[in-house]
Amino acid sequence: MTTLKAVRGTRDLLPPETALWNRIESTARRVFARYNFGEIRTPIFEDTGLFARSVGEETDIVAKEMYTWEDRARAQSEKSQSLTLRPENTAGVVRAYIEHKLGESGQLQKLYYIGPQFRRERPQKGRYRQFWQIGAEVIGPPSAGSESALRDAEVLEMLATLLDELGIIGWTLELNSVGSSADRERYNRTLRAALIPVAPRMCVDCQRRAVTNPLRVLDCKVPEDQPIIDALPRITDSLDEDSKKHFAQVTAALDAAGVSYKLNHRLVRGLDYYTRTTFEFTHSGLGAQNALLGGGRYDGLSEALGGPRAPGIGFAMGLDRLVLTLQNQLDERSTQPKVDAFIAPLGENLNAAALVLARELRRVGLAVELGDGSFRLKKSFEAADKTARRIVILGEDELQSGILTVKDFASGVQTKVPRAELAAFLRN
Ligand code: HAM
Repeated sequence: MTTLKAVRGTRDLLPPETALWNRIESTARRVFARYNFGEIRTPIFEDTGLFARSVGEETDIVAKEMYTWEDRARAQSEKSQSLTLRPENTAGVVRAYIEHKLGESGQLQKLYYIGPQFRRERPQKGRYRQFWQIGAEVIGPPSAGSESALRDAEVLEMLATLLDELGIIGWTLELNSVGSSADRERYNRTLRAALIPVAPRMCVDCQRRAVTNPLRVLDCKVPEDQPIIDALPRITDSLDEDSKKHFAQVTAALDAAGVSYKLNHRLVRGLDYYTRTTFEFTHSGLGAQNALLGGGRYDGLSEALGGPRAPGIGFAMGLDRLVLTLQNQLDERSTQPKVDAFIAPLGENLNAAALVLARELRRVGLAVELGDGSFRLKKSFEAADKTARRIVILGEDELQSGILTVKDFASGVQTKVPRAELAAFLRN
């Protein structure tokens, strides 16, 4: 029989690594709460049309990477429907914003999410077919200040704070503005025209992009194409006065807050809904897939989905990539948290007494691993050294006298501790 394995591009997350995942998630939740964000949980699959209308029919995500299927009707009253596993979460959040009329409160909605996303990409380091995002969106009616450059700056300042609190060292914020949708259309035309004479000298992908989707030429990594791309017109030169002013306000607020950034006029991002500010936080330790997170403003998205005018800005961080970066930074021992004590019963007749002792300690909040009386003492010590900071030996003598023997692995010191004082001793 062939053995079954996790599907290509998916993987199991196992302890002790999951402790790091949990730490990142709880740090994010704590930081989001300080900035007054609340959690939203949207379904993992949605109507396929949602992604076509938001992310964009021409993008790689929608054209090539979605997991889509025809969901058959189960009753006369139902229709069959094309469904898709979400490749990202902004579309679902904006759909929920419209569906629940969240704009009617007149307030800004500040929503965050943590969950899996699905894209059929070519798997490689830092790129999976099921991956996890931690993201947030700030969206609301213009009267609530949703268009203000202050919102962009606040989101970017929060991200800088979050990455610092996570302990990510050496991130870079890359920043650009893609202007209004009219600016973008104008730039697309300018770029298409500028590419006609030079495209034949570029890589085959760029030759195709020059015709189908000129903006994507800016993502090209082929070294020979770089001087040609550098000489192309820049999107920043196609911005109207309002977009230029908005971007200047974003950078001025970041300067005031002391958040450093690098302007990258080639950062147009791979999703169609962006307007004005776009950004990525990159990390050189990640290799080819160097974006820790990406995001931007999407002032027209709600209307494109049939909702009210509701400008917004948001981001999503690749949780898998945050984990990779922190693992590269951390010394392995510190990623493997140890429990407070390992209880080693000396003989199977002491198993029940050991369970009682473990119960006492766990009930007062200590993390305890329980050995087995069938183990030889050497085996108990080996198991304990891997999982716990201390070993507590429970033999007949200890049970009768109520004085337990505790050995601390870091110091090697062995101590006799009365049972009534054991919890306090282990807590130190
Ligand atoms: P995105 O740039 O497509 O944006 O994805 C955001 C982040 O998700 C990336 O920077 C990367 O860290 C992670 N990511 C994307 N694809 C993969 C993959 N195949 N494997 C591992 N990690 C991956 C969005 O998804 C937008 N919804 C962000 C946003 C929110 N814009 C506005 N609001």
